[in-house]
Amino acid sequence: MLSLGPAQVRLFRGGSTTVQRHVTSAWPDAEIRVTGRGGDFDAALVWDAEPDEIATFAESQAGRWWLHTRSSGLPDRLIAELRGHDVLVTNGAGTHGAAVAEHVAAVLLAHYKRLPAMLDAQRERVWRPPAGIDEVGQKVVGIVGAGDLGQSIAKVLAGLGATIRALRNSSPGSLGCTRAGGGWAPQVTAANNAGWQLHGSAGYNLAKARIHGPDELHAFLSGLDVLVLAAPLTDRTRSMIGGAELTLLAAGAVVINVSRGPILSEDALVHAIESGHISAALLDVFETEPLTPSSRLWSLPNVMISPHCADVTFQTEQRCLNLLMDNIHRFRLGRPMRNIVDLARGY
Ligand SMILES: NC(=O)c1ccc[n+]([C@@H]2O[C@H](COP(=O)([O-])OP(=O)(O)OC[C@H]3O[C@@H](n4cnc5c(N)ncnc54)[C@H](OP(=O)(O)O)[C@@H]3O)[C@@H](O)[C@H]2O)c1
Repeated sequence: MLSLGPAQVRLFRGGSTTVQRHVTSAWPDAEIRVTGRGGDFDAALVWDAEPDEIATFAESQAGRWWLHTRSSGLPDRLIAELRGHDVLVTNGAGTHGAAVAEHVAAVLLAHYKRLPAMLDAQRERVWRPPAGIDEVGQKVVGIVGAGDLGQSIAKVLAGLGATIRALRNSSPGSLGCTRAGGGWAPQVTAANNAGWQLHGSAGYNLAKARIHGPDELHAFLSGLDVLVLAAPLTDRTRSMIGGAELTLLAAGAVVINVSRGPILSEDALVHAIESGHISAALLDVFETEPLTPSSRLWSLPNVMISPHCADVTFQTEQRCLNLLMDNIHRFRLGRPMRNIVDLARGY
């Protein structure tokens, strides 16, 4: 609930003075604080913060407040904590998919075109064509998650000719995922707060993809050449992919994780790579971040590690900032907010 006086706003690590300047100009009558957590706030705007920091802040809040996060995924444990509070949560979904999809295409092509081996040979000044150069266009790619990331990845890899399967949380055809004009209509589902809509999909046409519902994990995984994880970390996705699930993939399959580390068992992955069943893992996220120096993943052949930076582009920053400005505008005017997180389902 808005205070009678100036709105009290906590900005978590504004990233740069640019973000602070934008927030200040979008909300000129607000008292914006960038440190401390004393008192009741109307809004907390998170550009960057550890989940524990947000949870501690939430504990100190008594009234109703709005939390916006630049990230599109809040960990399941923070969501569980927020369920006990009178808080409206909005996230950054819809702003990261384009960059992450390019990252996925880059690492997958690098793997199939054997770029690391070619660069090794170049450094040695040796003319050595690598064995096993392959084509993405011949592969069956399964994407867990069909939101902004999943749809953006599907668009790029389908463009290379790959056959796409997707796994969603809701059964195909339910939860507002009606097909319209051959594509998926935006997911403007019933509001969980009067007049406020849940966040929508990226609007990519997945009509040609085989869409699996949440109870079809094993059928979805069966025979995949490439598995891409692009779903939020929730009660249901935590530890979703372990040894039994990896066994269902095609021999020599590639595993890509751009969602959250705890969705995939790293021990099971290491075992599957060492056994030869999984030929490569292209990982942007990890069970523990930063990845510890002792992790076996660093030294396994055909593991490509990126330090949780798949979405880091100037354009992503701009989209995140635009979304934040738009939601501040909507909040001040009491208009429907974008990207409301459904705390019950966890994203
Ligand atoms: N590496 C990075 O840099 C980076 C950047 C951005 C995001 N992320 C991570 O990626 C996640 C997804 O981002 P997004 O923007 O695509 O989110 P989103 O637009 O909210 O989409 C989430 C998708 O995941 C699906 N899903 C949820 N639970 C599932 C389950 N149990 N089984 C299968 N699918 C499930 C949802 O299904 P429905 O369609 O049925 O609801 C939806 O299609 C984020 O939560 C975040 O953790 C990582």
